Amino acid sequence: GAPVKYNIGKLEPGQMVTVEWRGKPVYVVRRTQEALDNLPKVAQFLRDPESAESKQPAYVNPENRAIKAQTLVLVGLCTHLGCAPMYRPEVGTADLGGDEWMGGFFCACHGSKYDLAGRVYTGVPAPLNMEVPPYSYEGDDVIVIG
Ligand code: FES
Repeated sequence: GAPVKYNIGKLEPGQMVTVEWRGKPVYVVRRTQEALDNLPKVAQFLRDPESAESKQPAYVNPENRAIKAQTLVLVGLCTHLGCAPMYRPEVGTADLGGDEWMGGFFCACHGSKYDLAGRVYTGVPAPLNMEVPPYSYEGDDVIVIG
């Protein structure tokens, strides 16, 4: 399939959009500075915090999983059985783990949880972090997926 372009210039901090690529949902999130600051704090609750086993291009940072930290690009499919996890950016939500929850993605199918870098929590069915697709920047504001 052809690469897909998306202009991130108008995304507000904290906003997520879904872009279709090769029939898959791709989540594009403009992360807040608070969200970025929280990534190291949740590492202790994650199965693969440095993405050693998970699928992502070699050119993304293994912890924040992006080319430019502010913008996260993820295949929006749970690594358990492929449901689309919901974006749940709020911090400290009781039913998602209270103090362990710094915002992320929740898969309602069987309860898998991922942080705001798509990294999977321990103790859930999903085995791996959500996949980062191949992508690049064209100028400052256009991402090219694929
Ligand atoms: Fe997401 Fe099973 S498909 S937890």
